[in-house]
Amino acid sequence: MKGIILAGGLGTRLRPLTFITNKHLLPVYDKPMVYYPIRTLVQAGVTEIMIVTGGPHCGHFMRVLKNGEEWGITHLEYAYQETEGGISHALSLAESFADEGPVTVILGDNTTDADISLAVKSFDKGARIFLKKVPDPHRFGVPVFDKKDPSKVVEIIEKPKNPVNNFAVVGLYIFDRTVFDRIRKLKPSARGELEVTDLNNSYIADGQLKSAELKGFWSDAGTFESLFRSNEFWAKKALEKSA
Ligand code: G1P
Repeated sequence: MKGIILAGGLGTRLRPLTFITNKHLLPVYDKPMVYYPIRTLVQAGVTEIMIVTGGPHCGHFMRVLKNGEEWGITHLEYAYQETEGGISHALSLAESFADEGPVTVILGDNTTDADISLAVKSFDKGARIFLKKVPDPHRFGVPVFDKKDPSKVVEIIEKPKNPVNNFAVVGLYIFDRTVFDRIRKLKPSARGELEVTDLNNSYIADGQLKSAELKGFWSDAGTFESLFRSNEFWAKKALEKSA
């Protein structure tokens, strides 16, 4: 299994900090943000990683990560995203890296202490998504559950005004090799992006999507509030460990 970290975008919600560097290199306690998704992948045995990035500060990644060895990465590649085309567009840039195999995809501003080893090792086909209860589901992709079988997701709605429940689809996905053909069939959303939610809905339409609740802490860090929450959690965890 190979891993892909999506770390592009301009990080406009974190300006003026993102005038200084790429959002995913901003500090989360004592590490650059991207360290945490790397850690999630490496701990699950996914050590061949591609980082898809772009924007004015993308060169900073090399300064921080170098060849990735220090972080447990055995093979590190970068892809450059020329335009802001959305998550599915960013993912499409990793097609040759994936080399016909399944991929674990994680958004560079998502941090979690969940162990995803089992999900990675047992992955067979289709798509696997992870869900987490949140106080502000309108900021995320929200799953709609089957009325008869609540373990089944029948649709995902991106940033709904009136969420039907408190679950968010977190930015961590496992996709089989059909993912790139599916992306080619996507149409841009109202905000002009190829959405990861539409990609997941294409797997649902084929009965090929499984979901599981993510255990432990999870947060994005793309807004000042969520960045602060992430800092608080990881600082507390590191300080407890060193006490
Ligand atoms: C993206 C996805 C959304 C997902 C979220 C997780 O949203 O579009 O479905 O729930 O990441 O962090 P973004 O916050 O990048 O707009």
